[in-house]
Amino acid sequence: MSGKYVTETLGTGESGLARAAEILAAGGLVAVPTETVYGLAARADDDGAVGRIYAAKGRPSYNPLIVHVSSIEMARQLAEFSPTAEGIAAEHWPGPLTLVLPAKNNAKLASAVTAGLDTTAIRMPAHPVIRALIEMSGFPLAAPSANRSGFISPTSATHVLATLNGRIDAVIDGGACKSGVESTIIAVRPDGTIDQLRPGPISFDGIGPVPTMGHKIEAPGQLASHYAPGKPMRLDVIRVVEDEFFIGFGEVEGDCSLSIEGDLEEAAARLYACLHLAAESDLPRIAVAPIPHIGVGQAINDRLRRAATPA
Ligand code: TXA
Ligand code: MG
Repeated sequence: MSGKYVTETLGTGESGLARAAEILAAGGLVAVPTETVYGLAARADDDGAVGRIYAAKGRPSYNPLIVHVSSIEMARQLAEFSPTAEGIAAEHWPGPLTLVLPAKNNAKLASAVTAGLDTTAIRMPAHPVIRALIEMSGFPLAAPSANRSGFISPTSATHVLATLNGRIDAVIDGGACKSGVESTIIAVRPDGTIDQLRPGPISFDGIGPVPTMGHKIEAPGQLASHYAPGKPMRLDVIRVVEDEFFIGFGEVEGDCSLSIEGDLEEAAARLYACLHLAAESDLPRIAVAPIPHIGVGQAINDRLRRAATPA
């Protein structure tokens, strides 16, 4: 895909990060590895930079962005941390958890980041590359997943370039992402109650306060159709029919296996790579083996359900 940019591929060494920091400071777009998926980063304090994220992704303006920070002090400048929020952050940050918190009035954030909501979504990632980049930059980074809106999320630099080559300034190639599904999103309400807005690598059942699933559609990632491979998809399949690209799991073999060992963490890490292969295959349809609905299996099934729902 071509566009108005020549997209540079950068390494994770000092010179690659310095170049990325320079692009970001000037208001440009850099796709960056995190422990979940690659993010499409821009400085979160600049209207023009944040506007470029929406334009490059073709993202609807009502869908707000997660702000990535490198320290709790940086996070506290952006949102109101109740004691409950402080406790959850202390337990899980840095890591694949996003907190939706009441916005702070004087926070230096471009208004498009929160898309008009009175809350702000914040995450302190664990991946050393994005952490180093935020520290070098000195400002927080707004970063949605680095894919065209509605398409499969990227867990490699190649996936990023598949839909954003020529539309962004650079991608930092940090290899494959470890967790492979997007962060768990938890909203901490002013009254101290908690809602889980998106299941992810951190499973909240049985850990501390048990969150109830939010009822309203508040995170547009909860929309029925998302992560779409652009082909019809059947789930919980044991036996394929003709013309289907089969994504297997455990003893159920396929054209591509999420995990031959039946390991859910490995399956999460490989989910989007298998979906990308299925999307690129000549076969016109996709089938997926059953995935146990426990732990990160819940996040995998959440993404598969949305990928299987026609837009
Ligand atoms: O793991 C991740 O979270 C990755 C990496 C790059 O950090 N990011 C990611 O971003 O998945 P994105 O934009 O693909 O998904 C962010 C989700 C969207 O569903 C958005 O609607 C929701 O977060 N969100 C953002 N701000 C929100 C807010 N203030 N209230 C509720 N939901 C919000
Ligand atoms: Mg996304």
